Amino acid sequence: MCGIVGYIGESQAAPILLDGLSKLEYRGYDSAGIAIYDGENIQVQKAVGRLKALSELTHDGATMPGISGIGHTRWATHGAPSNQNAHPHYNQSETIAVVHNGIIENYLKLRKRLEKKGYQFQSDTDTEVVAHLLDYYYKGDPIEAITKIMHRVEGSYALGIIFKEHPEHVYAVRKDSPLIVGHGKDGNLIASDVPAVLKYTRNVYFIQNEEIAVLTKDAIAFYNVDGEDIQKESTAIDWDINAAEKGGYEHFMLKEMYEQPQTVRDTLNPRIKDGTIVIEELGMSEEEIRGIRKIHIVACGSAYHVGVTGKYVFEGMARIPVEVDLASEFRYRNPILSHDELVIVISQSGETADSLAALREAKDKGVKTLGIVNVVGSSIAREADKVMYTWAGPEIAVATTKAYSAQLIAQYLLAVKFAQVRDVITEGEVAAFLKDLQKLPEQIEMLLSNKEKIQHFANRYIAAKDVFFVGRGIDYAISLEGSLKLKEISYIHSEAYAAGELKHGTISLIEEGTLVAAVVTQEDLYKKTISNIVELSSRGAFVLAVTNTGNREIEKAADYVIYIPQTNKYFTNSLAIIPLQLFSYYVSVGKGCDVDKPRNLAKSVTVE
Ligand code: F6R
Repeated sequence: MCGIVGYIGESQAAPILLDGLSKLEYRGYDSAGIAIYDGENIQVQKAVGRLKALSELTHDGATMPGISGIGHTRWATHGAPSNQNAHPHYNQSETIAVVHNGIIENYLKLRKRLEKKGYQFQSDTDTEVVAHLLDYYYKGDPIEAITKIMHRVEGSYALGIIFKEHPEHVYAVRKDSPLIVGHGKDGNLIASDVPAVLKYTRNVYFIQNEEIAVLTKDAIAFYNVDGEDIQKESTAIDWDINAAEKGGYEHFMLKEMYEQPQTVRDTLNPRIKDGTIVIEELGMSEEEIRGIRKIHIVACGSAYHVGVTGKYVFEGMARIPVEVDLASEFRYRNPILSHDELVIVISQSGETADSLAALREAKDKGVKTLGIVNVVGSSIAREADKVMYTWAGPEIAVATTKAYSAQLIAQYLLAVKFAQVRDVITEGEVAAFLKDLQKLPEQIEMLLSNKEKIQHFANRYIAAKDVFFVGRGIDYAISLEGSLKLKEISYIHSEAYAAGELKHGTISLIEEGTLVAAVVTQEDLYKKTISNIVELSSRGAFVLAVTNTGNREIEKAADYVIYIPQTNKYFTNSLAIIPLQLFSYYVSVGKGCDVDKPRNLAKSVTVE
């Protein structure tokens, strides 16, 4: 996820672009850049770090005169955060500049072809391919070149483009990445999101997939992928600026929960090619995968809960023994590791001190390490032998939601891949797993659309003192995460227990009306958990059950039931967690807590 902006009008472009980027920093903040047509040439300035560095470098835009340009704030995907990889990217003759948000999936293939034709690349990014490809197709007509690249480029993109030979125009095009055009009095703008233009106009066009916008200082024209004119209606925006930065959502957490379907797609789809799983970044031969004797999954907090799920998934599906450790324990327990084992470190930030130390411990012991990481170029991403990125984009809310969902997907992909290579599942099973994985985004959307029901239920529990979460197998892992979400943002005491463990002590805590959330998604364990629910109810608990559609039996035992759509038993975490996230969120909102920044917590825990 990155942010793009563009402007052409009566005013100086650079300060407007910088201001627009400042409203999009939530989309990425590892580097930024702007390109301005100065009357003769396209000038580019870039800086690594927060936008402030670029503002300082350009004296708030004063050193870059010109009335048209494009800008970018980056969240690194392809290529570490660096000046070279920061946008805008040029063609070789510096006559075409491009900013991009999205992922070009076939960029390696395109890059090789362009290199064969003599194009030289300056960066490791997928975006630079677009600049050179435009150069290749440009014969004087920008629209023709843009429509041609639309047929060649696979993946997602919102592009802002300027051509030196057409200084009176800014071009934009999108597919599967957001893009809006603002029609202002003193000029026109493009942006990834509405807040970037609100200071200048409230008159906005939402660009749809495969539409092109061409801006001049006083007009905007739209074209389809065949280069034909299209008509579009503008929308008057009536949100206030603060609300707009969260895309109209009240909190980043809610926004990020709603981004989960896309996050899942972005993490999954580029790794499924022609019906098989391709994890190029794993860098392991089939022989090496077959040789793995044990997997250690090491992480903190929610990422650790992904690891607990991983134990059930890798062991059940791929029959590989798994140990899961809290990183803070692993690093000091002198773990017994051997060369034919794999250590997987899971981390959103890639900077968590304990997880990083655990990674180093594993490396010191000579074991192969794999990071499942969200922040490109972070310490864990750099130091792990191999890194598999979760394409969740920046997560702003302290409590993780979308990065957690993306981590689950990365782990499922690895498990199916390992199971396939080790011949413990049939090709038919692989196809069925992939089909179920590809259904998850829509199923998550469906669960999110049911938020009112959960909001209503959550309102009844804002005064709760204790809440328990129980489940068996993968449902226990889901319970751990459900419980953490609730306690960290609502400050309600909450615990997760393996359901079978209740009668060994915990059940004495149950009083009349205590809320217990029972997660019941594993069909082979239905009966066992239902009998735990009966035990809990008979001691006065109010039981909320989260279970699969069709498990009507549970209605006899539980007081309130939330159904999730059918999926493979290994993937239920991705669905069951959605109502639990929503529940925690609405309890926190109902209590008036600071949802996005809960007390005593930080997004990235870089100290022990
Ligand atoms: C909880 C949460 C934390 C993180 C943990 C690890 O909502 O976000 O528990 O999961 O601090 O952080 P990363 O994944 O950055 O290593």
